Amino acid sequence: MRDAAPQTIYLKDYAPFPWLIDGVELTFRLSPKATRVTSRIRFRPNPDAPSGPFFLNGETMTLLSARIDGAEVQPEITPEGLTCAVPDGPFTFEAEVEIDPEANTSLDGLYRSGGMYCTQCEAQGFRKITFYPDRPDVMAVFTVRVESEMPVLLSNGNPVDQGDGWAEWHDPWPKPAYLFALVAGDLVSVPGHFTTRSGRAVDLNIWVRPGDEGRAGWALESLKLSMRWDEEAYGREYDLDVFNIVAVDDFNMGAMENKGLNIFNSRLVLASPETATDTDFERIEAVIAHEYFHNWTGNRITCRDWFQLCLKEGLTVFRDQSFTSDVRSAPVKRIEDAILLRARQFREDQGPLAHPVRPESFVEINNFYTVTVYEKGAEIVGMLKRLVGDEGYRAALDLYFDRHDGQAVTIEDWLKVFEDATGRDLTQFARWYSQAGTPHLTVTDAFEDGRYTLTFRQETAPTPGQTEKAPQVIPIAVGLLGANGDEVVPTTLLEMTEAEQSFTFEGLTGKPVPSILRGFSAPVEITRESSGAEKAFLLAHDTDPFNRWEAGRDLARATLTAMILEDAAPDAGWLQGLGAVLRDTALDPAFRALVLALPTQDEMAAHLARLGHVPDPLRIRACHRALREAMSEALEDSLPALHEDAQIPGEYSPQAEPAGRRALGNAALGLITLRDGGARARAQFETADNMTQSIAALGALLAIGKGQDQLAAFEARWSHDRLVMDKWFGLQIALAEPEEAAPLTERLTQHPGFDVKNPNRVRAVFGSLSGNAAGFHAPGGASYALLADWLIRLDALNPQTASRLSTAFDSWRRYDETRQGQMRAQLERIAGTDGLSRDLSEMVQRMLG
Ligand code: ARG
Ligand code: ZN
Repeated sequence: MRDAAPQTIYLKDYAPFPWLIDGVELTFRLSPKATRVTSRIRFRPNPDAPSGPFFLNGETMTLLSARIDGAEVQPEITPEGLTCAVPDGPFTFEAEVEIDPEANTSLDGLYRSGGMYCTQCEAQGFRKITFYPDRPDVMAVFTVRVESEMPVLLSNGNPVDQGDGWAEWHDPWPKPAYLFALVAGDLVSVPGHFTTRSGRAVDLNIWVRPGDEGRAGWALESLKLSMRWDEEAYGREYDLDVFNIVAVDDFNMGAMENKGLNIFNSRLVLASPETATDTDFERIEAVIAHEYFHNWTGNRITCRDWFQLCLKEGLTVFRDQSFTSDVRSAPVKRIEDAILLRARQFREDQGPLAHPVRPESFVEINNFYTVTVYEKGAEIVGMLKRLVGDEGYRAALDLYFDRHDGQAVTIEDWLKVFEDATGRDLTQFARWYSQAGTPHLTVTDAFEDGRYTLTFRQETAPTPGQTEKAPQVIPIAVGLLGANGDEVVPTTLLEMTEAEQSFTFEGLTGKPVPSILRGFSAPVEITRESSGAEKAFLLAHDTDPFNRWEAGRDLARATLTAMILEDAAPDAGWLQGLGAVLRDTALDPAFRALVLALPTQDEMAAHLARLGHVPDPLRIRACHRALREAMSEALEDSLPALHEDAQIPGEYSPQAEPAGRRALGNAALGLITLRDGGARARAQFETADNMTQSIAALGALLAIGKGQDQLAAFEARWSHDRLVMDKWFGLQIALAEPEEAAPLTERLTQHPGFDVKNPNRVRAVFGSLSGNAAGFHAPGGASYALLADWLIRLDALNPQTASRLSTAFDSWRRYDETRQGQMRAQLERIAGTDGLSRDLSEMVQRMLG
């Protein structure tokens, strides 16, 4: 995993592979330290590609023998792969290699986790398994034989045959190597069945470790729901006889869509009321759907090269978001997605890691599995749908599946189906893929003689490598409200294409109140001079739920900003409006819970930085807290009832309705706890029969500096359970007092349950440290140094996870000189470490600029 001379790869250098593959046969003889892989690959010259040297990727393995058409050959081996002379026409390449799964702590390629064998091949892990053209545009049919004494042996596609110590699998659908998967372990299945709408019977299995069977039911139900949804919403059916999902404890990411054999981080499969929160259940449902939807958007149609990653990820995220909107609440889902996008993607855009949704170069592709590629990529699909309408979108997607099934394609191909299906020119729209940064809209308005004019100006700040920005197509959904709160102009989609552009509404009887960017119709930021009274009016009256929430959010941010910068008192008008929303039982409790949530401290820091101020994390924390105390006092009369309504009798259900009630009840509990010394939270902790209630009570106590007894009780009860203990590790660090955050984190790394090789545990600890804004930026820089120490240590074991956690430093230029100096020093210390991985070194170089 130590890389000699990292190279930059460019989109413009794309060239097709000179051969096609007619079939791949693999045999695995599994052994912890010396697994043998034999391959038999039938190559044929690619008539559509210029000829070139025969090069197969291959890393960290030993070649034992190689043959071409049966005759032994001696290929030339480099750290990146193998070259050798080959015949002019078709030929068969065979190789035997040895690999060491036990030593593979990178969790990329074939590795061991908790006694089982499993694989992760996206993006470039297959090249650690055998010599192969490891690139997504080389698609082939795989037949796999697994030999091992493990009882359960799985690979892609359909089972062919099995016997004592072996199993054979055949995947009839051509696929790139990144979708290859193999699992061998002592596993049990929670089985299910699904009949597709054309009558194909599919066996479903959720494979877990013995003892975890009781926690796989939700994943299975979510899978069935997803399969039905994709038939109904997109006309897409499943295409194999089996669909297997395996839960794995040691996993770098969330989950992986390998054809017919999805492999999941166990935290995104296993759930029971006692161990998982409502949020976990919702997330499991969404990720099961996401990976399932990849079967068509990713697998049947894949990416030509890794620059096109958003082709499958942006689209599949958009699909899983639509699914969640349909099976839960659409407005609530939209608000949750906007919160995530702003907190993480806008932050990425504001800093040194900003990149286009389709990047033009990379050193390590795993560094580009980002919120920009995923979530902004999904926003682009959403904008396309808004622009062409539901029918246009469906026609374009039908054409996409028809035209490109079985192919590895590009963003140009994707946009072309929209152009061909709808007749629309998307040349300018395509800038969303190539231009980095968040467009900023400035809005002004004028009213005269019944004519109301809205004028928008768009601007995108320079990002690394892109100083000039051209105007983008921005779909702006607008509605107008009259003085009495009636909607005088219903939601209308304005299409902005110029740097500055005006839109006029005629025939109005008075100056309306505009509701702009309804439903968050484009991933942009907006500035508009408008009074607090107008926002309060929208919070009370807007018919668009997103903008109603947004008005409250704007007010909360404004009052926090004034408290931080001007020592202002909390805005009484906003507190009153908030009270009215909270008491409005016609509103969805989940929605009300979102209205109650303040912008995070990190978002406030970003906001202040945008306004040209240097954020002080301690000051932000103090004002955040003061505002919560003011909320607690102002809403005192309403909160207990909201909390009591969330104590739902009977069997726990993770569905949207009860989960929403609990979200609101627990938000109320957090505020009540600021004033009652913790009595109510302690009672809830004692009586809770589900994790949502239990962890919320614990969090409420920790947030007021109490809860140590409960923390100990929680540990005693759950120390055997990795997933639950991740919550225990994370929560206390996330809620630690600023000066306590680093010492506590350090102590917890000495805890017997801390395991640097388990990404979930590492993320629970260090992700929570960087997520505790005031603790991460506490004076003295102890958190910076601690994180850097561990990044260096982790990088030697697992570059991907180290690299992701390093993004905690990406906002370093926002802060004061002292903090900047401290963070820069840590980044430089990391950069200067010998033998740093390609992953982490690319990240720190980009952050240092
Ligand atoms: N394709 C997976 C998904 O569903 C992500 C896998 C990424 N893994 C990695 N090591 N880059 O989003
Ligand atoms: Zn995905």
